[in-house]
Amino acid sequence: MTRAIFYTASTVNGFLADPEDSLEWLLTIPQEEATADIAAFTASIGVLVEGSSTYEWVLEHEGLRAHPERWQQFYGDRPTFVFTHRDLDPVPGADIRFVQGEVAAHWADIVAAAGDRDVWIGGGGDLVGQFADAGLLDEVVITFAPVTLAAGKPLLPRDLDHTRLELTSVRQAGPFAELTYRVKAPLA
Ligand SMILES: NC(=O)c1ccc[n+]([C@@H]2O[C@H](COP(=O)([O-])OP(=O)(O)OC[C@H]3O[C@@H](n4cnc5c(N)ncnc54)[C@H](OP(=O)(O)O)[C@@H]3O)[C@@H](O)[C@H]2O)c1
Repeated sequence: MTRAIFYTASTVNGFLADPEDSLEWLLTIPQEEATADIAAFTASIGVLVEGSSTYEWVLEHEGLRAHPERWQQFYGDRPTFVFTHRDLDPVPGADIRFVQGEVAAHWADIVAAAGDRDVWIGGGGDLVGQFADAGLLDEVVITFAPVTLAAGKPLLPRDLDHTRLELTSVRQAGPFAELTYRVKAPLA
């Protein structure tokens, strides 16, 4: 069965990015161990889902307007669903599907595009929260970097208590701490 997995890096105090959407706090940390882990994770993924800020950050940071082939190097041929209310530029040659509205309304299409693999909900945090609200979030894998920020873009701005999050794995990867949680349905 297709699972929806939020797989992300975070500061220790729960920010995905700084207030200006910068990931400098993350990218300045030596990444060797984390890079190998990301490759293993992406092999299990059939589809990516992300919000427009995340998509636009990747576009800018990777220079994809000038070098669209770089999309393939990281994402391969996987379809990507980008949630937005705006007309954003696609990356030439990439399978990018711009959608909007209720996440549940797009779930059947997302699952169909994933084939027999899982779905990577890349963020941001509120979009992940929309999947949790809809009962469509199965797992959360957070790689905590040894960093705190005074402010930034929140990891998962929802109330999910201990009855909803079951810790299934704790792992160290160099300076990073990876925690994995199974997301459980609310108690009846
Ligand atoms: N640390 C990490 O590994 C990591 C992981 C993921 C993201 N990030 C970074 O964290 C930041 C996250 O930014 P963010 O919190 O603004 O989140 P985001 O989810 O990337 O973008 C939010 C935007 O997506 C659009 N959107 C969200 N839900 C929608 C819906 N249901 N229908 C239509 N449009 C919808 C809206 O913009 P419009 O409608 O105006 O387009 C919304 O303002 C980014 O800078 C990203 O690069 C870091």
